[in-house]
Amino acid sequence: MSSQNPSLNHDKDTVHKPSKEFSSKARISSMGAYRKLYKESIEKPNKFWAREAKELVWQKPWEKVLTWKAPHAKWFDGGKLNVCENCVDRHAAGPRKNKAAIIWEGEPGDKRVITYGQLQKDVCRFANVLLKNGVKAKDCVLIYMPMVPEAAIAMLACARIGAVHNVVFGGFAAEAIADRLEDSGAKVIVTADGGWRRGKVVALKPVVDEALTKSSQVTRVIVLNRCNNSIAMEPTRDVWWHDEVGTVSSKHIAKGFDSEHPLFVLYTSGSTGKPKGILHTSGGYLTGTYSTCKYIFDMRDEDVFWCTADVGWITGHSYIVYGPLANGVTQVMYEGAPNFPDFGRFWKMVEEYGVTIFYTAPTAIRAFIKAGNPFPEAHDLSSLRLLGSVGEPINPEAWNWYHKYIGGGKCPIVDTWWQTETGAILISPIPGATPCKPGTATLPFFGIDAAILDDAGKECKAGEDGRLVIRKPWPSMIRSIYGDKERFKKTYWSDYAGGIYSAGDGARRDKDGNFWIIGRLDDVLNVSGHRLGTAEIESALVSHPAVAEAAVVGRPDDMKGQAVAAFVTLKEEFVESENLRDELRNHVGKVIGAIAKPDDLHFAVGLPKTRSGKIMRRLLKELVCTGRISGNITTLEDGSVIDSLLRSIKR
Ligand code: PRX
Repeated sequence: MSSQNPSLNHDKDTVHKPSKEFSSKARISSMGAYRKLYKESIEKPNKFWAREAKELVWQKPWEKVLTWKAPHAKWFDGGKLNVCENCVDRHAAGPRKNKAAIIWEGEPGDKRVITYGQLQKDVCRFANVLLKNGVKAKDCVLIYMPMVPEAAIAMLACARIGAVHNVVFGGFAAEAIADRLEDSGAKVIVTADGGWRRGKVVALKPVVDEALTKSSQVTRVIVLNRCNNSIAMEPTRDVWWHDEVGTVSSKHIAKGFDSEHPLFVLYTSGSTGKPKGILHTSGGYLTGTYSTCKYIFDMRDEDVFWCTADVGWITGHSYIVYGPLANGVTQVMYEGAPNFPDFGRFWKMVEEYGVTIFYTAPTAIRAFIKAGNPFPEAHDLSSLRLLGSVGEPINPEAWNWYHKYIGGGKCPIVDTWWQTETGAILISPIPGATPCKPGTATLPFFGIDAAILDDAGKECKAGEDGRLVIRKPWPSMIRSIYGDKERFKKTYWSDYAGGIYSAGDGARRDKDGNFWIIGRLDDVLNVSGHRLGTAEIESALVSHPAVAEAAVVGRPDDMKGQAVAAFVTLKEEFVESENLRDELRNHVGKVIGAIAKPDDLHFAVGLPKTRSGKIMRRLLKELVCTGRISGNITTLEDGSVIDSLLRSIKR
């Protein structure tokens, strides 16, 4: 098992207890209170989740909290709700009408404040635009947008009319869009001319155009004018967002949909070359994101919450759009790069908007550490009361820096473990209660029966490594892999019998019961907190005419957590060269997106294979991590490839 979290001796870890000042005001203010509610929630999960769900607006009450025929769950069956009504209308109809829902800053410095009242109008208009363009309930809409409020508006408008959104991260390339289009069956795309990133316009519409050369299923592309960059419009297919919203009413009645009505599909990497469309539904997902915001971020009406993720990832779905808006807080949304014009950008914004809760990824924290303390020190960050981390294990050095330089030594840090599949945070400190140790996501959230099992299904003892599993269903859980029920069953529910969800992560618990996540057990890399399948990168590489075979493994990287190392054998007629190396790296960028470009690309005369022809990635991994191969190579088909591989990485 590869370890991204090498700290083994947890007895010596420093423990940070929440301050009295924080605890006294928190919803859950002691470990006693956490344990009591946790015990109740595990003994009677339906009671706990029903209480949480009742804080949402239901147009028709549910008949049954949970129907569980593993691995298929129905939460709040018989109930009807409108997710958008819960995130927007119920606030717009009351005292929050003129409260800022989204404070947005574009990278060039342009600013917008959208109140809940305004958000309601904007969302209703766009819902009417979707309807006008033929979108019906359960139709899929692909959203490929920069980080602008319209991305959230488009998602909420889909939810409002019962359409299923499929947000594709703006950094993905044309082929990745084309694959997702085909798999999701979307006929309408919402995009923008471009977005700002590091002082430049990153064009988006041309990428959509390229994706559409491979697909004829799309009948309408709605284009937001964000950057005024010159783009082509196909007159029978493409329309401008501003033209469309000008022709419709700002009123729309939010009708209730079944609790299990599909809300969105979001693609994520797995162990095959084809990304999986993770399907989430309405009532349970909203309950999970709402409740975790309430307890884990301890959200209050007066909070200003900032999650720095992109809406193209699950973190943006759950903790920019649905969770915080369901809680009616004000949040900050930012379009661009953290280091534009310099590494002080985030801290300037925290000071300017009085951010109280800040949620980011360890990879960003490590980049800030490298940039130097003067950046945060130049700003007044005293408004912050709580910090969060997500995406990968946070190394103690990053934890301590975050705590001292951003949190001023007074803010608890919630290290939140969860996945695209889990929909909401499942393991995390409860900030007014849980003593934190840098590097551990600590304890399970209410109603979450997390455990670590060995291969035989026995629970591991403290300090023993095993598989992280969840033994009871939870409301925001994945419902299926879009269009592939068998893959859904096989991927998550086949390691153990009896309806146990296997997360794909290795983990161990310390003697206090804290969960330490070690890393992925499958062929999935975690690069800067982003999931990348080695098989996807390999299939991108072999789609280049020069490549005969490719194998991809992860190697530890101080900044990114893991970096992508590729081994490539060329077809006879091609010769190794620096140009070809660059070309192949760029080719991966073109097929998947820049985040997947291999950091190292080694040419090899052959790849290590078993006699049955399986590539032994274990050896390649050892090679990139240690520069040696000491593992068992007796099953290798051709032992001589090892020498050539050793030479290739020294070059
Ligand atoms: O390996 C775990 C890691 O990220 C994976 C999930 O990736 P994704 O679906 O892209 O969602 C990321 C954002 C929720 C997990 O299987 N991971 C996520 N959070 C943590 C983590 N590893 C350790 N500690 C975390 N807090």
